[in-house]
Amino acid sequence: MSEQTLSNLSTETRRFEPPADLAAQANVTEEAYDRAASDSEAYWAEAADRLDWGQKWDQVLDWSNPPFAKWFVGGTLNAAVNCADRHVAAGRGDKVALHWVGEPEGDRRDITYAELTDLVCQAANALTELGVGKGDRVAIYMPMIPEVAVAMLACARVGAIHTVVFGGFSADALASRIVDCEAKLVITADGGFRRGSASALKPAVDEALLKSEVDKIEKVLVVRRTGQDVEWQEGRDVWWHDVVDRQPTEHEAEMHDSEHPLFVMYTSGSTGKPKGILHTTGGYLTGTSFTHWAVFDLKDDDVYWCTADVGWITGHSYMVYGPLANGTTQVMFEGTPEKGSWWKVIEDYKVSIFYTAPTAIRTFMKQGREIPDGYDMSSLRILGSVGEPINPEAYIWYREVIGGNRCPVVDTWWQTETGQIMISPLPGVTAGKPGSAMRALPGIAADVVDDEAKPVPNGSGGYLVLTEPWPAMLRTLWGDDQRFKDTYWSRWPGLYFAGDGAKKDDDGDIWLLGRVDDVMNVSGHRLSTTEIESALVSHPKVAEAAVVGATDDTTGQAVVAFVILRESAVAEADEQGEGSDLVAELRAHVAHEIGPIAKPRSIMIVPELPKTRSGKIMRRLLKDVAEHREVGDVTTLADSSVMDLIKQQESTTT
Ligand code: WT7
Repeated sequence: MSEQTLSNLSTETRRFEPPADLAAQANVTEEAYDRAASDSEAYWAEAADRLDWGQKWDQVLDWSNPPFAKWFVGGTLNAAVNCADRHVAAGRGDKVALHWVGEPEGDRRDITYAELTDLVCQAANALTELGVGKGDRVAIYMPMIPEVAVAMLACARVGAIHTVVFGGFSADALASRIVDCEAKLVITADGGFRRGSASALKPAVDEALLKSEVDKIEKVLVVRRTGQDVEWQEGRDVWWHDVVDRQPTEHEAEMHDSEHPLFVMYTSGSTGKPKGILHTTGGYLTGTSFTHWAVFDLKDDDVYWCTADVGWITGHSYMVYGPLANGTTQVMFEGTPEKGSWWKVIEDYKVSIFYTAPTAIRTFMKQGREIPDGYDMSSLRILGSVGEPINPEAYIWYREVIGGNRCPVVDTWWQTETGQIMISPLPGVTAGKPGSAMRALPGIAADVVDDEAKPVPNGSGGYLVLTEPWPAMLRTLWGDDQRFKDTYWSRWPGLYFAGDGAKKDDDGDIWLLGRVDDVMNVSGHRLSTTEIESALVSHPKVAEAAVVGATDDTTGQAVVAFVILRESAVAEADEQGEGSDLVAELRAHVAHEIGPIAKPRSIMIVPELPKTRSGKIMRRLLKDVAEHREVGDVTTLADSSVMDLIKQQESTTT
């Protein structure tokens, strides 16, 4: 890492101490770090004890055959019972599990833990009737409706392995996942609501099942959500309301082995076909429920809201399994956010813990603070961020405008593979630094190493690695142990390579610098795309920025930036005509913030950035533009017309 790169983030000196009242009653305090470090297995055993087990484990961790871990060996439990029945048994059946907010205005539904338990039991009975049993795979392709959580838990209850495919993915993507895990049932809906209108899902399932390689599916279970017309294949397709609703609400749950597979979540690799990340039962439920309780300082009367879609790991770990295992009351939101609609939900339900992504925060920044300022969000007490590094400006805006300067921001680093949050502040302990995920949670061992796997000293950068196994770690890639070893464990023996660059600051706190594949090398200096983006966004006229390294004859790589202006700056630029002065101003700003080496070779002012449906910027496509190539595959973009807009822009400015 270049000196400039490292010193830029280190100049961030703001600190936010935990609120005193929060610290005084925090679920986890400073002592946990030492206790967990001295005996991490005992620490995780205590965490596992928060769950209900059939048979208690005989061994906390079996690491005799690395990198294949086994946690809570010999133990048995049922994830669905832990997420539903046990709260009813504890006398909390009337507590609301889900405040579901559907998209058509006013379509709302509250589901208590007693109701959730009944629904899961009915769905489990239905699965049995449909011939789905322990170990079978079930693909779930659904909108954000309560039935998706019910379907997941029903699978877990009978021991079937679910694979949830994000509803925004294409028929092809769905088909390839069904084929890879040889699913025998698909659970879907006629459609869902997006931006005010019904959007069909069932046709994509029909199309996926037409492919000759998709030959194991026996039944398709369909929830009627929108009421739109659907094609129907007699004998294969069955309505949820026909099959599930008539089932008894009693279901005897089997206790499954702690290492019984819970689900497969596909995530894109750097090349080739998606990787099926396998998570198992005991360790995953321990890791997610414990971190949900610790990182969000969860109390019984909290109202929690994670804005992720259930089709991603965040939706699995921090909407379904973690929160429900903890008996949390939470919001589930179907729609796409319109201006102010999220803040209205916070006001209406008195949400106290809010968990979202930096990309959303920056979108709201762009719209201006007048919108959130119009709502009463005084119920909030903790704010979370996940998915990408949060730049200091977005952090501060989140803290000030959404959190009223009173709520700690927890920037949580983790991955589909880690299953659970790994690096994060603790709201009652940590004096937060804007832009830093701070340190590994108690019981987690992370480090930043150089090319030779040597830990770097404070003040230096390198690769983020995990040095000890953790409960919710992926167990393997579905059907591909070799790829599991090659991808994560082969770079340095005994270390899990996360694929992220990171640095330790002078205090040893960790700053994530983005994927190492996004780190550029300019004239032999390593520069982080994240850091340059952060510098650009710190300019008052910039709302959002994406940076790529474009091949350059003299410097190896050159920095190319794509920038979205704030609405006020757009108006000003329109008034004054050309934006070339502005480009010069921004280049100078980056030079000033990081050093001349980081100055973008070119900056394009664009109306939108190409993002996947999960909100990740597709730098690959921007790189194509920056290197004047034909733009590659745009099918995973949330809005594929964005690239046309950018290319148009390019032809008018170059
Ligand atoms: C990658 C994992 C974790 C659930 C959502 C994404 C990046 C994630 C942070 C953070 C900096 C972050 C990393 C990681 N990432 N959280 N707080 N700060 N980077 O899951 O799709 O598996 O992506 O997201 O690069 O490797 P995912």
